[in-house]
Amino acid sequence: MRQGRFRIDALDPAGPNAERITELFWFMTITASVLYLIVIAVMVYAAFRRREPRPGPAMETRMERRAGIGVAVGIGVTVVVLITTLLVDFSLSRANASTGAEQRPITIEIVGHQWWWEVHYEDSVPQRRVTTANELYLPVGQRVKLVMTSTDVIHSFWVPNLAGKKDIVPGYRTETWIQADRPGVYRGQCAEFCGHQHAKMGITVIAVPRAEFDQWIARQLQPAATPTDSLALAGQQVFVNGPCAMCHNITGTTASGIVGPDLTHLASRRMIGAGTLLNRRGQLAGWIVDPQGIKPGVRMPSNQLDPNELRALLAYLETLR
Ligand code: CUA
Repeated sequence: MRQGRFRIDALDPAGPNAERITELFWFMTITASVLYLIVIAVMVYAAFRRREPRPGPAMETRMERRAGIGVAVGIGVTVVVLITTLLVDFSLSRANASTGAEQRPITIEIVGHQWWWEVHYEDSVPQRRVTTANELYLPVGQRVKLVMTSTDVIHSFWVPNLAGKKDIVPGYRTETWIQADRPGVYRGQCAEFCGHQHAKMGITVIAVPRAEFDQWIARQLQPAATPTDSLALAGQQVFVNGPCAMCHNITGTTASGIVGPDLTHLASRRMIGAGTLLNRRGQLAGWIVDPQGIKPGVRMPSNQLDPNELRALLAYLETLR
């Protein structure tokens, strides 16, 4: 299934982790189907075979022996199939958990919130740490380490085209590795019921060539520029002096809230509201004015702005590339 140009399909793997899981899926599906057909065939045979007249005592012993052999073979096959499946599953989990040959891996810290994803690209130099939300950029062909935790309840990180689910647990760090071998835009989804808006906890993963990834990092490291346009400048005042700044950070301004997503490069993102709406002017306006109508229960309150303030605010937010 595709959502516009977003890929979301567990059987269309775009990286090694998802490939292994797809192989396991087909292995189990085919094994189970073959066994099912054999069981059905034996049942049909037993139901329709010709009844024999009541046998004598010598014949009865022979038949009991035959039945005993049948049961032993059935148990043997079951044990072999279960152990094989267990071993295949175990080796797959090990392979997916291993770091591969990456010398200096990219490490991304992900913090789950009700109902959005906080994202930090780690760097030994604090000033080179990139913070964003609900969107991951990955360089194609490189293994990326994800270190995850939650601030409230259990969530689960799942990008079906790239890797299996990994739970995100409050007060605990879980790790996983992902890799995208094909450039593309992949849709991820929280996969653990985490409250009212669990379904609207999406994440966009964008896999791009390494050079483009480096450009993206460089752009994300820039603080927000002060707008030159007077309308956008008025919008900046609405933002920093209004309630927005209490929850959101925009680096380069006095807005430094940490309750909601960092908005320093909001305009560069494809979606808003954690994959809820496309990042277009009309949707953004609707989201600012009535987030409770779009995603009931979300932490963001509805905002009563007069039309001029709203227009200015939108003009400002659109400068945050
Ligand atoms: Cu977060 Cu479901």
